[in-house]
Amino acid sequence: MTAYLRVCDENTLKDGDIMGFDYQANVDNGSHKANKRLLIAKIGGKIYATDGICTHQYADLSMGILNEDEKTVTCPLHLSAFSLEKGIPLNPPAEEPLRTYEVFVKPEDGGVYVSLPD
Ligand code: FES
Repeated sequence: MTAYLRVCDENTLKDGDIMGFDYQANVDNGSHKANKRLLIAKIGGKIYATDGICTHQYADLSMGILNEDEKTVTCPLHLSAFSLEKGIPLNPPAEEPLRTYEVFVKPEDGGVYVSLPD
């Protein structure tokens, strides 16, 4: 079942912003919880959500560098760049893609929501 996570108000995100968002996810068929982190970024009015931790080692991508022209975030630790649209790493050392998530704004409350499929 898909969960919808409210991560912020739309009007708090400006173009060029990146932020991390911590949440607890169900794992092992809901028998355990795990701490997870998302990366939220806004470029040209579009909001992107990916996993917030690099797939190479443990690095917080919200501390990385956003490239608005290329729509990438570059890991602060070893500088792999990831596509925000597809999650794929564009250069080593990272090889595994980030998961990407659907994002939408709810007009009723102006909230930014991320769809988290189980
Ligand atoms: S931890 Fe991100 S590239 Fe190494």
